[in-house]
Amino acid sequence: MKVIGIETSCDETGLAVYDSRSGLLAHALHSQVAMHEAYGGVVPELASRDHVRRVLPLAAQVLADAGCRLAELDAVAFTEGPGLAGALLVGASVGSALAFALGKPAIGVHHLEGHLLSPLLGSPRPSFPFVALLVSGGHSEFYEVRSVGDYVLLGQTQDDAAGEAFDKTAKLLGLGYPGGPALERLAARGRPEAVSLPRPMLSSGDLDLSFSGLKTAVSTFARREPLSEERKADLARGFQDAIVDVLALKAMRALDESGLSRLVVAGGVGANGALRRRLAAEARKHRAELYFPDLAFCTDNGAMIALVGALRLEHGRAQSYAFTVRPRWPLASSAPTRALASS
Ligand code: KG4
Ligand code: ZN
Repeated sequence: MKVIGIETSCDETGLAVYDSRSGLLAHALHSQVAMHEAYGGVVPELASRDHVRRVLPLAAQVLADAGCRLAELDAVAFTEGPGLAGALLVGASVGSALAFALGKPAIGVHHLEGHLLSPLLGSPRPSFPFVALLVSGGHSEFYEVRSVGDYVLLGQTQDDAAGEAFDKTAKLLGLGYPGGPALERLAARGRPEAVSLPRPMLSSGDLDLSFSGLKTAVSTFARREPLSEERKADLARGFQDAIVDVLALKAMRALDESGLSRLVVAGGVGANGALRRRLAAEARKHRAELYFPDLAFCTDNGAMIALVGALRLEHGRAQSYAFTVRPRWPLASSAPTRALASS
């Protein structure tokens, strides 16, 4: 079954065609980073308007690249939420209209489910069940992923998401937007342990996380002394090491507590090289299997939405053409079979 996926929840227009038999056929992405850079963050109205401009040309491009005619599509999947309301409406309206015109099912997909299952786009594919560490700009959560649609929330951030902490700290250090990659580049020049920052909630005894204190610690440090370029790099290194430490140790605790031996890391912060290396080392010690999506599928993309659409279609899920968007949408409530959130 061939499904086209449309992702427009934030600042990336992502399109893809996924075939349940042969896998990903084509994907394309337009990033709005350059457009929002001048404002230091995403401007929702500009994001929506740009999605309007990009979505149809990108749809035509992925269909051509996939060698797939419109009539050959079995369904249209779009990101229904969570995300920016106006941006979501672009993908939802285009997706539903296309599905209606083709007489095929329209499938509203949960953006986080896309991230959670994105490692299935790679090879080797993790088999169920697994623990997922989802670390993006808006979310930092641990899930037990039992099967498609069956997700148990194990722990989550009490305040900022990991990506948000990267972005805010990068802003404090005068780096560009998005902050994560810029901060990682600066941290690579910093000395280990030159600046030691707190490890929030490391010994909280649960799988919850907290990152806003860390951002405050950076800001206090930066106000105490004028920062030379070297000192800035040391501070970035100290910040990244603290986040990586907490995420890696809590991920191992999540494996221990769930009794599972597979860990999947998804979301934009999963692109961070230091986090990848540290998790690889910890997983080896724990004799656990570790899976990352390809770098291109760590951050927002259409392929993960097309993939979830195809999986949902196999499980018989589609909806009417009267679309909706859900700017706020807990993942556990999206499960068609049962909702299993622990909080
Ligand atoms: O998953 P994603 O593309 O969008 C959301 O759904 O939020 O994640 C974006 C987040 C941003 O906060 C960005 O700064 C962060 O992922 N990010 C990184 C890196 N690349 C992207 N954080 C740390 N290191 C990176 N290399
Ligand atoms: Zn995302």
